[in-house]
Amino acid sequence: MEEKIGTYHHLDPATEAHVEALLTQMTLPEKIGQLYQTTPFGPFDLDDYLAKMKQAEETGTPFEYDPQLREDMPDLIRTGRVGSFLNVMSPRWINTLQRLTVEESRLHIPLLIGGDVIHGFRTVFPIPLAESCTWNPTLLEQASRVAAEEASASGIDWIFAPMVDVARDPRWGRIAEGAGEDPFLGMAMARARVRGFQATNLTSGRRIAACPKHYVGYGAAEAGRDYNTTDFSERTLRDVYLPPFKAAFDAGAGTVMSAFNEISGLPATANPFILRTILRDEWNWPGLVLSDYESVRELIPHGLATDLKDAARQSLLAGLDVEMVSEGYTRHLADLISAGEVPLALVDDAVRRVLRLKIQLGLFEHPYLDETLPERLHLREDFRALALEVAQESMVLLKNESHALSPTTLPLSPQTRVAVIGPLADNRADLLGCWALVNHPEDVETVLEGLGHYLKADALTYTLGCPIKDDDASGIPAAVAAAQAADVVLLVLGESADMSGEGHSRVHLGLPGRQQELVDAVAATGKPLVCVLMSGRPLVIPKLAGQVNALLAAWHGGIRAGRAIADILFGAVNPSGKLTASWPRAEGQIPVYYAHKNTGRPSAEAGTKQFAEAFKSVYMDTPNSPLFPFGYGLSYTTFEYGGLQIENPTLGLEDTLIVSATVSNSGDRAGAEVVQLYVRDLVGSVTRPVKELKGFQKISLQPGEAQVVRFEVPVRELGFTGRNMGYTVEPGTFKVWVGPDSTGELEGEFTVS
Ligand code: GLC
Repeated sequence: MEEKIGTYHHLDPATEAHVEALLTQMTLPEKIGQLYQTTPFGPFDLDDYLAKMKQAEETGTPFEYDPQLREDMPDLIRTGRVGSFLNVMSPRWINTLQRLTVEESRLHIPLLIGGDVIHGFRTVFPIPLAESCTWNPTLLEQASRVAAEEASASGIDWIFAPMVDVARDPRWGRIAEGAGEDPFLGMAMARARVRGFQATNLTSGRRIAACPKHYVGYGAAEAGRDYNTTDFSERTLRDVYLPPFKAAFDAGAGTVMSAFNEISGLPATANPFILRTILRDEWNWPGLVLSDYESVRELIPHGLATDLKDAARQSLLAGLDVEMVSEGYTRHLADLISAGEVPLALVDDAVRRVLRLKIQLGLFEHPYLDETLPERLHLREDFRALALEVAQESMVLLKNESHALSPTTLPLSPQTRVAVIGPLADNRADLLGCWALVNHPEDVETVLEGLGHYLKADALTYTLGCPIKDDDASGIPAAVAAAQAADVVLLVLGESADMSGEGHSRVHLGLPGRQQELVDAVAATGKPLVCVLMSGRPLVIPKLAGQVNALLAAWHGGIRAGRAIADILFGAVNPSGKLTASWPRAEGQIPVYYAHKNTGRPSAEAGTKQFAEAFKSVYMDTPNSPLFPFGYGLSYTTFEYGGLQIENPTLGLEDTLIVSATVSNSGDRAGAEVVQLYVRDLVGSVTRPVKELKGFQKISLQPGEAQVVRFEVPVRELGFTGRNMGYTVEPGTFKVWVGPDSTGELEGEFTVS
């Protein structure tokens, strides 16, 4: 059966009648209650948590931490003064809270439970930046559906994802949560995730609403520092940051979360241009706008609001429906309405969107959960198998060069004696990545455990070398000795999970701690070096990349990362991942991304130091190009590109560009290749990027097999935001490339008349 995907845009009469019937009965406090989202628990008591965990360990009993309910919470719920909660993951608690409203409140309006299910729930997948490197929207839809299955079983009906912020600055820790630097790829991933989250036949019998975030432009934080100012043109807003949100809404997303950041002076949470003009007037999107965590109150430190009442007033007037955690609405909306500063009609509109969503999610018919379902559903074998598949496809082979031992260093032979060295080889917690909502390191397979499927115990040694980030080099001599005794060294290095994600921006993006010193010492042995690099972002590793013979970007790969890495290292899986964010040569290059402008003084020789090029847009000390470009990734086989065909090189505005190329597998083993199509609009009424991704197809080829890959791009999709800020497609000459990454391979030209 074709899986129906839920959308929340249909305003069907029965739902609307139900909404209106409720609304007319509601008192003002009950209306305002629907616009208040908070956590039901009191302040987290860490000492109590740790004491109970210790007790569970000592008595060998399962550890279930029972947080304390806020004292005022039962009464707030009974009197309808709270509408939703965030990050409650216990079905028992959710049923308890639901009973308070469904059975004891006046109008029995059920609660919405939201949660940050960013890359899996109990079955933790690779971080989203890694998942995007699969270039496989179908796989991501499946992964999102698994996340929805597990989250829904635990009572979450509102997933605060996908994070669709285009990010071109790896200093920004939240680059880990998104799909990288490109809007076109970001749109494909946004659609896939919304479809997966909003699948209609979940085992729980319930539904989930997706919540693309953070609307909008959060990834443009100045200097890559989280929560920092963003200041970009309306054209950049429309051509770079908005498209993935529009794709998410077109896929049916029922809600959106406003961002913390200001956009050129106006914080997103109180910005009528993005919340009303674009969302409602231009896009006619009827969904629900949720603030980010206390982003209403944050209007005060932003310097936009004098106090919480003023913040609430500006947010509601701008178009914010539900306030997360801060209490501007719940404390001040009644006064603002009676003072005539906020029209009741706007509050009613916001309440309608909340009620509509609750009705569409089926919460009135099914407010309660089957508390036994998580046990039966979580970590199901097919879910774990999918997590392995996603991890395998997300890893990117950045280098695989010859060494005295063999023409290529990878794949390794099981007869090889391997010295495994590094702080992430025998690690579980960090492989979960920056945002595993339910954190179970015990579910994670380590790299060592993965290697155990291929190497006998006597063929493998392990030494820590040095910790991830502490200043301790005492383990380096033992690592060097282990290297000398082995045929090949496998370095497993990188960042800990808490070095990326929210509030974790960095300016030094090289190997943390004493890891580079470890590499230097081990490299001096002259042994072949393979490096598995785990991170939540592109790293700045020019020296490491030069020292190793093979380099695999493994990101933080989730609960199956260890096995996936071993499958790739020993050739059971041929890597197919491709980068979705450029890897800089130096922090000083940032932001470095492929879809840049040409400038009036472009460098002539991309990729080499341009000392000779005086007075061009170049650096004195580094090439302009990144160390590894967008779209780049190697395979254990080789692919040849040829036979570029442009079926109709002269096109009208209503035509479709049809480009094809022949891709062949010229190596000796099967492999998957992401064939990419880029265009360039050579001259426009405004300057245009030197390249823009407009198509990609992931194909699998047997050795010797060739396939004609065909792209169809409607000319309408070659437009941009023109001088009048409207979307426009202009006649002119375009270049087109088909190739394995953004550096292009086959080049052609066509014209639009
Ligand atoms: C956080 C994040 C947002 C998350 C929300 C609820 O601060 O910015 O992504 O959904 O608060 O946890």
